[in-house]
Parts: sequence; C-alpha cells; structure tokens
Amino acid sequence: MPRILTLFALLISGSALAADTERGKQVYTANCMACHGTQGNGQGPAAMALTPKPSDFTQAAFWDGRSDEALANSVKTGKPGTSMAPFPQLTEKDMASLVDYLKTFNSES
Ligand code: HEC
Repeated sequence: MPRILTLFALLISGSALAADTERGKQVYTANCMACHGTQGNGQGPAAMALTPKPSDFTQAAFWDGRSDEALANSVKTGKPGTSMAPFPQLTEKDMASLVDYLKTFNSES
C-alpha cells in the first residue's frame, strides 16, 4: 500500500513539473551531465579524460549564431572526431526540452 501511495505522489508531482526545461534537465542529467557538467561548463566528472574537452555552454561565444535546429542536429548526430556520441534515440519532445534546457546555461540569455 505505501508503495502505491508513493507511485501516486510521483505521478502527481510529475505532471506538476510539466514545464519543458524540467523535462530537459532530466534528459540532460541522465545522458549529458557526466561530460558537460551540472553547470554546463564542460567540467563533468568524465570530462577530464577527454580530448577535445566539452565546450563551456555558459560562454555566450558558444551560442553565437547557433540555432535550435543546429543544436538539436549536433546532439542527434554527434560530433565526429570527439567523444560526443550521437543520440538518435531521443524523442522529438525530449530533444526540444533538452535544447530549451541547454539554453538556460547561456550566461547572457
Ligand atoms: C562522453 C562524453 C559526452 C557525453 C555523454 C555528451 N557529450 Fe556533448 N560533447 C562532448 C565532447 C567531447 C564534445 C566536443 C567538444 C565540443 O564541441 O563541445 C561535445 C559537443 C557537444 C555539443 C557541441 C556540438 C557542436 O556541433 O559544436 C553539444 C551541443 C553537446 N555536446 C551536447 C550534448 C548533449 C545534449 C548531450 C546529452 C544528450 C551530450 N552532449 C553528451 C562530450 C560528451
């Protein structure tokens, strides 16, 4: 019985958090955070071992001329020559939420 109540509570809080960036944060934490870091500054726990290192998403320069489509596309297809893997399995909704969340890292937005 307590387990059912917990599940119910989770469902309710899940729908209360329907905002896209909240969903984007979950997708990011599960798939990207290890390299790109909780702050999006490219200093996740796995980043140390990488060459090249992940970019710093908090720098406005990273965002210069970068459209949502270009961003989603590079996440979908990965970046050849780096450890940035393709993520074709993300649904359109997850990808849109993820892109919205990535943009919150921009220090000038
Ligand atoms: C294994 C480590 C790793 C993981 C996991 C990872 N990345 Fe990356 N990512 C990199 C590296 C390394 C680069 C190449 C350097 C750069 O351009 O930032 C990169 C590049 C990028 C870029 C810039 C691409 C471009 O075209 O310039 C974006 C955006 C990005 N990653 C987003 C994500 C997102 C979103 C996720 C999760 C869905 C993710 N990454 C998962 C390591 C990782």
